[in-house]
Amino acid sequence: MALRIMTISLALVGLAVAGAALAQDAAPTTPGGKAVLTRQAHYKDLAKAFGGVGAELRKDAPDKAVISAGAAMAAGLATDLPSWFPKGSGPEAGVKTAAKAEIWTDAAGFAAAAAKLQGETAKLQQLAMAGDIDAIKAQARAVGGACKTCHDAYRAPAEQH
Ligand code: HEC
Repeated sequence: MALRIMTISLALVGLAVAGAALAQDAAPTTPGGKAVLTRQAHYKDLAKAFGGVGAELRKDAPDKAVISAGAAMAAGLATDLPSWFPKGSGPEAGVKTAAKAEIWTDAAGFAAAAAKLQGETAKLQQLAMAGDIDAIKAQARAVGGACKTCHDAYRAPAEQH
């Protein structure tokens, strides 16, 4: 009985140690590793803002105020996007990232892809204020195209990360 309890508590200690190692992986300490996590959180916010616009557009009577707010949020994030990629936050960062090395080796191309998103989201924001739903829908597709253009060139496919 005593032996059994000891075995169980040893197993628990083992689990605790494994848990600590996992926690360490999840919280990188290098500036590059931290930047990856911050960046991925920003992208989740961007996807949420843009996704909210899309969800509203699929409703029978889209609320223009909701679309405007989502478009403004997306445009603001797009403006900040280039700052999410400090040197050292690429594949060498030591944490899981889908950011390709080309972001830094082809900095001009990446800057152009970011500028494209800035232009398309700014236009979406303007159209959202004007309120023509068909025009907003067409522009939302253009924004989606700007996401895809950059992902195709600078984001590793899901199975690689
Ligand atoms: C200029 C390039 C660029 C543009 C434009 C861009 N992305 Fe990304 N996106 C990336 C890169 C690079 C990553 C990989 C980030 C990483 O793993 O460190 C990424 C990752 C993501 C992720 C995954 C985040 C995570 O949890 O790991 C989402 C979601 C995403 N992007 C959504 C979008 C949406 C929506 C748009 C358009 C509104 C967009 N992106 C536009 C380059 C871009």
